[in-house]
Amino acid sequence: MPDMDAKHQAQSQDRGFDIPRHVAIIMDGNGRWAAARGLPRGEGHRRGVEALRRTVRAAGEAGIQYLTIFSFSTENWSRPVAEVNDLMGLLRRFVRNDLADLHQKNVRVRVIGEREGLSTDIARLLAEAEDLTRGNTGLTLVVAFNYGARQELARAARRMCEAVKRGELDPSSVDVETVGRFLDAPDIPDPDLVIRTSGEKRLSNFLLWQSAYSELVFVETNWPDFDQATLESVLSEFGRRERRFGGLVAQTGS
Ligand code: IPE
Ligand code: IPE
Ligand code: MG
Repeated sequence: MPDMDAKHQAQSQDRGFDIPRHVAIIMDGNGRWAAARGLPRGEGHRRGVEALRRTVRAAGEAGIQYLTIFSFSTENWSRPVAEVNDLMGLLRRFVRNDLADLHQKNVRVRVIGEREGLSTDIARLLAEAEDLTRGNTGLTLVVAFNYGARQELARAARRMCEAVKRGELDPSSVDVETVGRFLDAPDIPDPDLVIRTSGEKRLSNFLLWQSAYSELVFVETNWPDFDQATLESVLSEFGRRERRFGGLVAQTGS
């Protein structure tokens, strides 16, 4: 994606540090945002979709190439049925209302998570979003929907076992790179930065494999209030981090 590479480079040069290529966000705090205003939780989720629109735009402008958003976790099914229905309705509306706009903005949509068991219309909408935008060369928006990292690893293990059974994979050759190839989106690089909003400091079963060396930034802002300024301040924080990947940082001088 040469246009995205050029933008990433220009933005990194402007800011004086390497902009993360892949940012993943745990969009949390919709319910608390609503409760603080005496509003129903659903209103927090609706405002969360607006924050998502702003963030997709801001991420593209900042030269970020991949944006992963945690929109519904495997564990979120344990919420009251009315809230789950609300969230499913929002996803439907998001795809129906925003897909054309995302496509027009050259955004490529990918979906990770378990598709099995989703209602057929939702599964169809997710497939449609991926199919329509497959050839786009701008920002890649990875939607983690019905997603849990342990479940993703279990799926990968299952796919590996099936490949062994077909005689396509030799168990003795399985290494870290092999596991990566059997995950839901093997071609997408690991996130450089994982952001969680709302002050909670945990991963809640999000990208456990891929975030092995991600920088983690926790912000107090509830997701519906997240905007370009919040993203910029998180990017500055990322710029101050020293990524070592287990090695040593290159020393200048003696
Ligand atoms: C994040 O907001 C949205 C989803 C998990 C779908 P929450 O709904 O978790 O909001 P809080 O954490 O209860 O405030
Ligand atoms: C994580 O938030 C899931 C999403 C943002 C979709 P939760 O609100 O579900 O996480 P916990 O329950 O506080 O850990
Ligand atoms: Mg929450």
